[in-house]
Amino acid sequence: MPKSDIFQKSGFKFRIPPHLTDYAEVYKNFSWQQAASEITFFPDGKLNAAYNAVDRHLKGVNKEKLALIWEGSDGAKETYTFAQLASLSNQVANLLKTKGVQKGDRVFLFLPRIPLLYVSFLGILKIGSVAGLLFSAFQEQALFDRLKDSGSKVLITNRELSKRLEKVRQNLPDLKEVLIVDDDNFKKELESQSDQVEIEKTDPDDNAFMLYTSGTTGKPKGVVHHHYAILSQHITAKYVLDIHDEDIYWCTADPGWVTGIAYTILGSWSNAVTSVIYEGRFDPEKWYQILADYKVSVWYTAPTAIRMLMAKGDDILKKYDLSALRHILSVGEPLNPEAIRWSVNVLGLPFHDTWWQTETGCICIANYPVMDIKFGSMGKPFPGIEAAIVNDEGKVLPVNTEGNIALKPGWPSMMRTIWQNEEKYKSYFIGNWYLTGDHGLVDEDGYFWFIGRADDVIKTSGERVGPFEVESALVEHPAVIEAGVIGKPDTLRGEIIKAFVVLEKEYFEKCRDENAAAGLKEELSVYVKKHLAGHAYPREIEFIDKLPKTRSGKIMRRILKAKEMGLPVGDTSTLEEY
Ligand code: PRX
Repeated sequence: MPKSDIFQKSGFKFRIPPHLTDYAEVYKNFSWQQAASEITFFPDGKLNAAYNAVDRHLKGVNKEKLALIWEGSDGAKETYTFAQLASLSNQVANLLKTKGVQKGDRVFLFLPRIPLLYVSFLGILKIGSVAGLLFSAFQEQALFDRLKDSGSKVLITNRELSKRLEKVRQNLPDLKEVLIVDDDNFKKELESQSDQVEIEKTDPDDNAFMLYTSGTTGKPKGVVHHHYAILSQHITAKYVLDIHDEDIYWCTADPGWVTGIAYTILGSWSNAVTSVIYEGRFDPEKWYQILADYKVSVWYTAPTAIRMLMAKGDDILKKYDLSALRHILSVGEPLNPEAIRWSVNVLGLPFHDTWWQTETGCICIANYPVMDIKFGSMGKPFPGIEAAIVNDEGKVLPVNTEGNIALKPGWPSMMRTIWQNEEKYKSYFIGNWYLTGDHGLVDEDGYFWFIGRADDVIKTSGERVGPFEVESALVEHPAVIEAGVIGKPDTLRGEIIKAFVVLEKEYFEKCRDENAAAGLKEELSVYVKKHLAGHAYPREIEFIDKLPKTRSGKIMRRILKAKEMGLPVGDTSTLEEY
């Protein structure tokens, strides 16, 4: 592992002194109990995450501060103060009450990144109901699976996206209301609501939001987070993102992913920072323009986006004044050393890698503003979080030894459960450790290094995709008998989804013709895109005669992957005849 490249912070000129001044010292003395003084509790230890994110600022100087600077895909611009976010989310909360939503009910959001998405999230939490987030690229099957499993009572969406629900709605008996935000009726109803609401004083471990995320087997699982998670999200936003009062902050993640919830809505607003939200898709020139126009000073983004910006060349960069940037970070997949070299070169700033997961609810391992960066390392554990490399039995391994990245449970934003699947929840733990599913090592200086997933989970453009979901979508197509899906390394996207497909005889015969084969591959890709999700489709498809399977019939994806990469296939003793 190349560990020679280091960005030293000793000579670095900070424009604003970092919140975290001495990592080692703070790590040694940190206690969650003490940190809890940074968030606001109601009497008897009750709290509400949405109140902490927004309403508590109404008592002080930040009441009229800009919370949100929004730009739509069509260039529309809107701004909202903390007071406005509070009033609007109160109206959503009251509207939901009129629809019979009660504490603990699930209310799902299926919207593009428009202000109402953010306001609704807050409104849902304010009445103690549980917000579920659906990425707007989801199609029929992905929507159905999530709404069904969660027993969602209300869905908030728009006219266009709601069409994807039409065919499956009758099979969702728990779904009582679908609110269409661009219908006049909805607008009228919302406007007629009072902008005051009695905020639910929840227990710290009452459920606040849930997100479906992928593992190796089965359909995605509902990871549930509680209100107390706001403490971890607040303090990590302060120490890692290092947001200050005067910052303009842009987190590029969609709230369909945990990053967009923890660090656009909860932890970042609870620090009263002004956030930029851009509704549109990734586009290099547009992104540079947003950074320049709004004078973004803290920017939290993802390695695939950075690689795509790098690929676009540095000439276009010269058109934009990005001098307001002072701290930049990334998350979601390995940050390659070249990306840090590039940012130092063109922006004069190193990207700071951060590591965490949907399940952990907050940044757990990070590079901090004051700490030297070892290029390619994820950094060190956040204060209050103990991380180690353990073997499969949960025994801590020596430094520089590859093993499972594990965390000691006990930080406030650790997932509370897996929705109606206690068994799955328990399967994450071994002994005293929570196993993250990642492999890595820790070096002699305490820096953690990511090596790869321990399972078959795919990370494509930073997005987590379960092979089972894609395989299930493929076998729905009449041409497909069975399919095995893997992540294939890709220089731009980290991984791409590759599917190995066994065809029905008749299609198999037809596909002896090259053109017919190419046509069917294209058809299958589009099929998955349309049924499952716009981002989770196979970019590469290969037809094969037979999938490698265990004697019990489980597809051996690691063998497909090894063959794809020209590596030895390893132990095949559990395989059926192969
Ligand atoms: O494999 C790790 C990878 O993303 C997984 C978590 O994905 P998700 O739940 O979608 O959350 C992503 C955003 C919080 C991890 O198990 N991952 C995340 N950050 C990094 C990473 N891999 C390498 N380096 C990272 N910094």
